[in-house]
Amino acid sequence: MKQIIIAIDGPAGSGKTSSAKIIAEKLDYIYIDTGAMYRAVTLAWLRKKTELTSDALKEIIDNINITLEPSSNGQITKLNGENVNKEIRSEEVDKYVSPISADKYVREAMVKLQRSLAEGKGCVMDGRDIGTTVFPNAALKIYLTASIGARAKRRLAEYEQKGITGLGFDEIASQILERDKFDSNREISPLSKANDAIEIDTSNLTLEEQTEKIYNLAIEIINK
Ligand code: CDP
Repeated sequence: MKQIIIAIDGPAGSGKTSSAKIIAEKLDYIYIDTGAMYRAVTLAWLRKKTELTSDALKEIIDNINITLEPSSNGQITKLNGENVNKEIRSEEVDKYVSPISADKYVREAMVKLQRSLAEGKGCVMDGRDIGTTVFPNAALKIYLTASIGARAKRRLAEYEQKGITGLGFDEIASQILERDKFDSNREISPLSKANDAIEIDTSNLTLEEQTEKIYNLAIEIINK
């Protein structure tokens, strides 16, 4: 099978990760969740309890080791060898990940890592800047969107499934909107649709429907 890069970008709750995982599995490609990397950096910062400055972030980046390992259940994110899959999805990480991922040094290090993991391979990579910055020549670029209502509903269900309670629909919606605003307005590689990306609104699509749409587009390119 032809090995291509499939870039899937979009805001929180648009369904990137769920679809990306399934498509990678179906194509026998590697799957890279770049958000997990920024989350791991955020966790490292939270554990150090230092001030949020670019010097503090540089010190962290220079001294941590982030690895992604494939597993039957998606990707295992490791911070200095420790599986942090669960911890990187905490409310606390959600709160700080956007400002931390806006830092230039953090972004440069993560983009370098992302490119080194996927270069020359068949890969489905999801994030905010994959089609615009990380792999501007990706063979297939998808930009997923969905209404804020649909996105908050999905995130609420995800939290409930993980046993995270205490946050209501309205609170989740406003947190997502705040993160969107931050991600879209930052100076370096903001969240935006690449000119040649195919936009799919997933508000009224099931996971199966949206996945099938992307998969069919990928197969068309792979078989060309
Ligand atoms: O799962 P969700 O869509 O909520 O977020 P995520 O994909 O895990 O990404 C978490 C945060 O990391 C985003 O809100 C961005 O601030 C940042 N991020 C980024 O800056 N660039 C990427 N390529 C991926 C994530």
